[in-house]
Amino acid sequence: MNTHIIKKTQKKLILVFTLSLFIFSSTVFAQTAAKLTSTEEFGGKWGTKVKEAIEAMKLEGNIEDGAIIYEEICQACHQPGGNGDPGGNFPQLAGQHSTVIIKQIADIRIGNRDNPTMYPFANIEALRAATEDIFDEEKSGPQTLSDVSAFIQTLPMSSAIVGEGVDLEHGAEIYKENCVRCHGDHGQGDVKNYYPVIAGQNYHYLLRQFRWIKDGKRRNANPEMVKQISGFSERDMLAVMDWVSRQTMIAGDWDSKK
Ligand code: HEC
Ligand code: HEC
Repeated sequence: MNTHIIKKTQKKLILVFTLSLFIFSSTVFAQTAAKLTSTEEFGGKWGTKVKEAIEAMKLEGNIEDGAIIYEEICQACHQPGGNGDPGGNFPQLAGQHSTVIIKQIADIRIGNRDNPTMYPFANIEALRAATEDIFDEEKSGPQTLSDVSAFIQTLPMSSAIVGEGVDLEHGAEIYKENCVRCHGDHGQGDVKNYYPVIAGQNYHYLLRQFRWIKDGKRRNANPEMVKQISGFSERDMLAVMDWVSRQTMIAGDWDSKK
C-alpha cells in the first residue's frame, strides 16, 4: 500500500470513530441544547443562528462538487436521486429549496430538530472532513454545505408515494384555507423565507412531520403553523397530506427573486 492510501484509510477510520461518538452523544445533546428559533426572535422572519449555515446561505453553491458530496454521504440514506425510501423514513430531498436544506441541517445540528440518525452528518465540519481528499482545493464547511444543497435543489422529484385518494376535495379545501399563505398555492414553499417545498413529498413522511409539528415534537416548527393546525381532525390531516403529495412543482418555483 502506498503512503497516500494509508493516510486516506487512517483519516476515514478517524472520521468513522468521530461520527460514532457523535451518534452516541446526539440524543443527550439534542435534549440539552434545544433553543427555539422563533419568528419573533428574528424580527418576524424565519431564521437560523448557526453561524456556518448563515455563511452557507451567502455562498454560491458548486453543483458539480455538491453531487460528489451527496454521493459520498447523503445517498446512503436519502437514496441515489434523492427521492427517499417508499416508507418515508428518509424524506425526498430532491427539489427542496437549498435554503431549506441548509436551515434544516443547521436546526438538526443545534438540537432544534431531533434527528439522531442524521445528527453526525449535520456536523458541518464533518461534512467537510469526509470529502476533503476528493477536491483539489480545500473547502470550508459552509462551502460544502452550500454545494450539496445547491445540487439537491436540481434533482428531479419523483416520489410517487401518495395517500388513498378518497378525500381529495376536502384536502384541497383545507389546504386553500390554511396552508397557501406560507407553502404557496401548490406546495411550492418559499426560497427566501425557508418555507419547505411540500408538493410531491412522500405521503408517509409528510404525515409524520405534520403530526410531530401538531404535537410539538418537532421543536423548530413555525409557531404560527402550530396554532393554525391545532384543531385539525384525523380526517383533515389525511386529506390535506394526500392532496399535497400529489402536487408538482412548476418552472419558476425555485426563483429566489419572486
Ligand atoms: C444515516 C442516514 C442519513 C444520512 C447519511 C443523511 N440523512 Fe438526512 N435525514 C435522515 C432522516 C432519517 C431524516 C428524517 C428525519 C425526520 O423524520 O425528522 C433526514 C432528514 C433530512 C432533511 C430534512 C428534510 C425536510 O424535508 O425537512 C434534510 C434537509 C436532510 N436530511 C439533508 C441531508 C443531507 C444534505 C445529507 C448529506 C450531507 C444527509 N441528509 C444525510 C437520515 C440521513
Ligand atoms: C405561518 C406559516 C405556515 C403555515 C400557515 C403552514 N406552514 Fe407548514 N411549515 C411552515 C414552516 C416555516 C415550516 C418549516 C419549519 C422549519 O423551519 O423547520 C413548515 C413545515 C411543514 C411541514 C414539514 C415539511 C418537511 O419537509 O419536513 C409540513 C408537512 C407542513 N409544513 C405542512 C403544512 C400544511 C399541510 C399546512 C396547512 C394545513 C401548513 N403547513 C401551514 C410554515 C407554515
